[in-house]
Amino acid sequence: MMKHKRWVYVGLLAAVTLLVLGIGGLPAQAKTTNKTVTFGQLTNKNTHRLAAIRQAARQQILKQTHAKSSKVTAVYRVKLPKHMTKKATLTPQGLRMNLLANSFKVKQITIPYSQLKGKILNRYLPKANRTKAVKTNKMVALTFDDGPDKTLTPRLLKTLKKYKVHATFFETGQNVSRYPQVTRAVLAGGNEVGNHSWNHPNFNSIGTAKTVSQVTRTNRAIYQATGTLPQYVRPPYGNITAAEGRSIEQPIVRWSVDSRDWAYLNKNKDINEVMKDTRGGDIILMHDIHSQSVAAVPTIIKRLKAKGYKLVTVSQLLNNQALSGLQYFGAHDYRTAGK
Ligand code: NI
Repeated sequence: MMKHKRWVYVGLLAAVTLLVLGIGGLPAQAKTTNKTVTFGQLTNKNTHRLAAIRQAARQQILKQTHAKSSKVTAVYRVKLPKHMTKKATLTPQGLRMNLLANSFKVKQITIPYSQLKGKILNRYLPKANRTKAVKTNKMVALTFDDGPDKTLTPRLLKTLKKYKVHATFFETGQNVSRYPQVTRAVLAGGNEVGNHSWNHPNFNSIGTAKTVSQVTRTNRAIYQATGTLPQYVRPPYGNITAAEGRSIEQPIVRWSVDSRDWAYLNKNKDINEVMKDTRGGDIILMHDIHSQSVAAVPTIIKRLKAKGYKLVTVSQLLNNQALSGLQYFGAHDYRTAGK
């Protein structure tokens, strides 16, 4: 009996020792998987990358708090890092950031690495989320502005589905709020939705404050319709000043091929205009609010495919590497906003 008791005691001691070692071991293990880094390291001190991280943080705050669309304006008032010396933590789940006091009452967010592809340097990302070089010489992106239209946009979606291609739609907030179901259908079809202002003013003549409000209000409408903020902004007429470009904190997408479909309103002229100018890496501008443009799309797709082009979304063409404060004209042409 005595002997037996002693073995129980030894066993208990061993168990306690293991437990203590185990508890002691946990933080040490966490230290090896979590790493503190500065935003300067994450971005190689690139302010466009840092602005892109701030935008990803806004999306994450909305997502993490299941925020209603009425909170979209407030998310732009949350203080987010602007200095390269500020720190964040690389965790197995994503990039963890501590937040200053804010109206969402969120102290900490963790942005999944899938949302940081192309925004932070590859070396800080898990292999699956790193950007790899892609050849864009046989890729083009079709883009459609000014919608959604109640009947023409669904008709265009049918065409895209039939030919198994995707496109990018730059929609006005005004139209998104009228036809949110169409915006949802655009996304559901594997296409991309971007911000094309609330009601199509010329940003060059309304000033920075009104431009930011046009963009934010439209982000809010798109969030309300789809549950996500759009990545890109396309300013009406392509006009945007340098100050506005910096304030928006979203990549600006322009175009390299202008179909001038709004001026022609003629199916065959639209087709000819696109086909004579399009080269690999191009972003093609059309409008899904004109029936002639939508009618031109099947032939345009067939002819581009016959020339060996793959029709992709803007994100695919830009290899997920578009950054805030820069404007993109094609796969290999980007400039500072306002230039
Ligand atoms: Ni437009």
